[in-house]
Amino acid sequence: MNEHIRLSAATLQQRLGPAPEIAVLLGSGWGPFAEVLQGATEVAYAELPAFPALAVGGHKGLVRVGTVGNTRVAVLAGRKHAYETGNADGMLGAIRSLAAWGVRVLLQTNAAGSMDAGMRPGELMLISDHLNVVQRSPLIGEPGDKRFQDMNHAYDPGLNAQAKAAAAAMGTQLHEGIYAWVLGPQFETPAEIRMLRAFGAQAVGMSTVPETILARHAGLKVLALSMMTNMAAGMENEVLSHAHTLATANAASERAVATLAAVVQALKP
Ligand code: HPA
Repeated sequence: MNEHIRLSAATLQQRLGPAPEIAVLLGSGWGPFAEVLQGATEVAYAELPAFPALAVGGHKGLVRVGTVGNTRVAVLAGRKHAYETGNADGMLGAIRSLAAWGVRVLLQTNAAGSMDAGMRPGELMLISDHLNVVQRSPLIGEPGDKRFQDMNHAYDPGLNAQAKAAAAAMGTQLHEGIYAWVLGPQFETPAEIRMLRAFGAQAVGMSTVPETILARHAGLKVLALSMMTNMAAGMENEVLSHAHTLATANAASERAVATLAAVVQALKP
């Protein structure tokens, strides 16, 4: 194992205790989930040599452990995106460190554009599968046969069923669909959105897929929730911007965070 990963896992263990089963990676709009943890302790990414240095404002860069109800969980606030560097492996060290620490489930969250007229801004979608439209991999350069990672059931069917039941029990509408990963950072053209819809995707976003590949390769199960922050380009007469994404995300975050808390407590990995 790479020395940075070994050191990071050791620091997580030493500072935060034994690994929780579930780590939640927070995307845009989901940040307030970190505040609902009880009895939390945290470590900054800067103290974990395998973790990325973060540039984008609003992404904090810390691992926090605490409880939601009776469930102990780790939260990662801060994601390195491929659009920052062109590389898909920005979260490689972080995810391998979680696995080395002993985490078993990566629960991802993100913000996405809706390509389904019936799925409105503020609503949530469980990711059932993805399209790696970018066709980049965080496993490039990986030696050995393990690099040929199977991607069937990448989003764990058992965990998906538990998440759907938890959302239904609290009366939250949870859509289910396919997430198309685009590189960004520009938003899509209407023609690109027509293409992605024809490909069979319901949501489009600039994250998550590299981390799913890394997590599956590291032996973790994956569950992922998308918050729709806008209708995708050309679907409606809307000008897209990061400020718009964040404004919708903030308005919807209370419901999303409550749903995430219910899902975390319901999971039996
Ligand atoms: N496209 C890509 N990424 C996004 C979008 C979008 O419309 N909304 C939020 N993230």
